Amino acid sequence: MYSDIIEIAKRRGFFWPSFSIYGGFSGFYDYGPLGTLLKDNIIKIWKESYLNDDTIFIDTPNLTPEPVFKASGHIARFADIAAECKKCNNKFKFETVLSYNNISKIPKNIDEAVELKNEFKLKCPVCNSIIDNVYNFNLMFKAENNNLYLRPETAQGIFVNFKLIYNYNRGKLPLIIGQAGKGFRNEIAPRQSLIRLKEFNQCEIEAFFDPDNLYFKELYDYKKIKLRPNTGEEYNITVKDAMEKGIIGSNAFAYFVLKTQYILEYMGMDNEKLRFRQHEPDERAHYAADSWDAEALIDNDWFEIVGIANRTDFDLKNHDENSNEPMKIKINDNEIIPYVIEPSYGIDRIILALLVQSYYERDNKFKVLKLNYNIAPYHIAVFPLMRKGELKEKALQLYNEIKKIDRYIYYDESGSIGKRYARQDEIGTPYCITVDYQTIEDNTVTVRYRDTMKQKRVKMDDILLKNNFENL
Ligand code: GLY
Repeated sequence: MYSDIIEIAKRRGFFWPSFSIYGGFSGFYDYGPLGTLLKDNIIKIWKESYLNDDTIFIDTPNLTPEPVFKASGHIARFADIAAECKKCNNKFKFETVLSYNNISKIPKNIDEAVELKNEFKLKCPVCNSIIDNVYNFNLMFKAENNNLYLRPETAQGIFVNFKLIYNYNRGKLPLIIGQAGKGFRNEIAPRQSLIRLKEFNQCEIEAFFDPDNLYFKELYDYKKIKLRPNTGEEYNITVKDAMEKGIIGSNAFAYFVLKTQYILEYMGMDNEKLRFRQHEPDERAHYAADSWDAEALIDNDWFEIVGIANRTDFDLKNHDENSNEPMKIKINDNEIIPYVIEPSYGIDRIILALLVQSYYERDNKFKVLKLNYNIAPYHIAVFPLMRKGELKEKALQLYNEIKKIDRYIYYDESGSIGKRYARQDEIGTPYCITVDYQTIEDNTVTVRYRDTMKQKRVKMDDILLKNNFENL
């Protein structure tokens, strides 16, 4: 459960609220020693999976000059509607106030929001006074004196470099560019640990296509998934079938939905706790003609973890019109501006979902994280049965030998073996190896499996022969 994960995360070193020695500031979280390893593993899977599609990766600044966001529409339109109560001095997202007042209507713009406030005399969710003020709140952080903004998405760093990378790629489309980095949003109401942060980890892909040829790769048949188009139906269907039935608009878009499903499952996401939901037209970001969110079930609520948007030529066209660089390219004698499909991965939310979904308690109440081998902070822990003499020597020797092959290994000699197993179960380590008296006699060790708790006697040499330990 979510609350168990928050407790384990802090106690065992996955993540915790930042700046807590100064009282804590909402919307900021630190990754601790285990969380940092976990996060790096997740980003590595994302990156390697996209390298399979010949993606080109870049790394651009967090601070971005104003003209970029003027052109991209973020200065004018990247805003939430906020509500303020002057009595208790609280600020809210307007949708929070609407839901507190049991109003299901969603305003399309600030004028409609003001009308709703006046018509229903909306009450403050904290002190129940009448809400005083409803206003547009731009979500970007601005460094006031030099017209710089902290980027709210890594994507613009890719769009402004499109031409350079297109040339680097010898003028070929489709062209897929990726960037992993930080995004920043001045959230009115940050909440629920890693769910809504002011500074967050994003892994974004911008795939550039000829608009007349939105074909990428053959879709392969994969597991059925819950798909909720905005027409109101819910399907349990493969992405391939959804494409063939016209539920998803193009082959390229469907490819990135399928790929996202595959990547998330490869990281360990439960297919039953994953769905893809299409945005309502008035829910889309200002740059999107179509958007689908991959949503993960965390306890009883669905949360967006990946947003897949059809950004058309919106961004490149704006940079073409506002910068010194023409973004048009030539395809068969026609000048075009490429179309863009963007799968954008919210790494912090993916981490939270994977942790919550992997958590369970054994009958004896011991806590376990059933993390996939490929994301677990440590793959193996090595213990000597006794913390001295020949056993310790042998265990340290094995630990150092394995480390030459796999650095994601942990050595622990404190407490009973049962306690040491429990410690590793709680942080998701799939295998524990114990060096005991029999090891001295015949060079075998006990391998203990996190998920079955079964134990097996294995020759030390056999362990060292493996070049990965996934199938220990
Ligand atoms: N680039 C999409 C987003 O940041 O929401």
